[in-house]
Amino acid sequence: MKHLLPLDVNTCKVQPRRFYHYRILVLCMFCTIVYAYLYISITYIYRTKTISMKMDNTLSDLKYLQSNLKKLLRPINTKLNRSTINTDSYEIVRKKTKIDGNSKQLLVLFTTFTTKSEKYVCRNNTLNNWNSFGTGVKPVFFSDDQHLYKEIKEKGWDVIPPTKTAIGVPILKYMYLKVMKKYSAHFYAYVNGDILFTQNLNDTLQFILNSNVNHSEPMLIVGQRTNVKEVTAEQASTFENITKVSKKGKLFTTWGADYFITNDVYPWKDCPEVVIGRRAYDNWLILNARKRKHTTIDATKTLLALHQTTKSGNKEGHTHLNGNFNAQLLSKLYKRINYAAGLTSCTSYITTRNETSKEVQLLQRKIGKACFPI
Ligand SMILES: *[C@@H]1O[C@H](CO)[C@@H](O)[C@H](O)[C@H]1NC(C)=O
Ligand SMILES: *[C@@H]1O[C@H](CO)[C@@H](O)[C@H](O)[C@H]1NC(C)=O
Ligand SMILES: *[C@@H]1O[C@H](CO)[C@@H](O)[C@H](O)[C@H]1NC(C)=O
Ligand SMILES: *[C@@H]1O[C@H](CO)[C@@H](O)[C@H](O)[C@H]1NC(C)=O
Ligand SMILES: *[C@@H]1O[C@H](CO)[C@@H](O)[C@H](O)[C@H]1NC(C)=O
Ligand SMILES: *[C@@H]1O[C@H](CO)[C@@H](O)[C@H](O)[C@H]1NC(C)=O
Repeated sequence: MKHLLPLDVNTCKVQPRRFYHYRILVLCMFCTIVYAYLYISITYIYRTKTISMKMDNTLSDLKYLQSNLKKLLRPINTKLNRSTINTDSYEIVRKKTKIDGNSKQLLVLFTTFTTKSEKYVCRNNTLNNWNSFGTGVKPVFFSDDQHLYKEIKEKGWDVIPPTKTAIGVPILKYMYLKVMKKYSAHFYAYVNGDILFTQNLNDTLQFILNSNVNHSEPMLIVGQRTNVKEVTAEQASTFENITKVSKKGKLFTTWGADYFITNDVYPWKDCPEVVIGRRAYDNWLILNARKRKHTTIDATKTLLALHQTTKSGNKEGHTHLNGNFNAQLLSKLYKRINYAAGLTSCTSYITTRNETSKEVQLLQRKIGKACFPI
């Protein structure tokens, strides 16, 4: 701003006062115009008898003008009376935080997938299932595909474009960073698009949230999935039916993780640019969290993650083009990686259910030798 102030040729010092007079004069004229505008619109409103609606419009116009006016006034106010303007902006910030605090969600669930017709039922099931947790769980879809955008938006999900690599695959960390910026929640989770959950997702997370683990420490919750072949729309229609069909499923290996629930302080910005849907990132995320002494929890025993196995089978991440993208990226960054330290069975805690009270419990795990060195 300084270079705009007129200079005194003798002293080479700025002469703010005279300059402010001009600005204040301009502002006064501006205020008069605003006043006249409002006066006219209110008179007009009375005449047209659509008072409340028009008042709203006028009020929002006024707010808009007010905020612009504030911006204009700031340089002057900062000089004349710093404390006034500061109190004002603190007030605004406090109110905003309060609104966010009230609407803090339990979980933001997000995923992405492409249009493959043979997977239509599976995807439709997921879209319906993630919608059935009510307001506490927000489903978000990452895509820049016009058709998917429209279809999924109609299902009531939010849709955001992803940040992709040169090979056109979404980068995991930017998905987390985007949703963490956009939504206020206790937990955020990337989940593969063919996973169905039940009520115990809510139970497990509510329990962990109220447990006495240190919530200021980063937390990663993972678990094994249960594979069920060709899940129908009927079988996926309710939590009860999903639980029922899971009984004929099979628990998948501890090498696979299909969901990554992290809390609101998880340092995703420090994560390498691994991509989804290609092998190695899941085990690396777990071993990295262990190495950095984050809280790691295996929720397999209390959280059903039902994987809808379709014709392409259980090893999809390995059959894609550029299947080694993550492994190559990570091997450039780290000399030796012991992927066996990144199994879901290597976490420091597990969740279980108390057999008598049926309540969720958190137990410290005796981590096996196979999970070392990290
Ligand atoms: C600045 O504002 C404070 C608080 O509103 C007031 O007490 C003080 O007198 C003002 N100072 C000037 C120079 O206007
Ligand atoms: C997709 O989901 C809707 C419910 O939103 C359901 O009515 C429809 O039958 C489903 N379609 C298929 C093919 O599963
Ligand atoms: C999730 O659990 C909490 C506490 O146990 C409960 O108040 C809430 O209604 C549950 N939400 C859903 C969608 O079941
Ligand atoms: C919780 O973690 C934070 C961040 O690491 C630490 O500053 C704080 O002392 C911890 N609190 C307790 C009770 O251990
Ligand atoms: C749940 O599955 C049963 C069959 O096991 C079926 O009769 C019922 O209609 C399903 N529920 C819904 C809401 O589709
Ligand atoms: C399970 O819950 C019951 C009743 O709340 C309690 O007495 C018991 O100690 C719990 N068991 C374990 C292993 O914590």
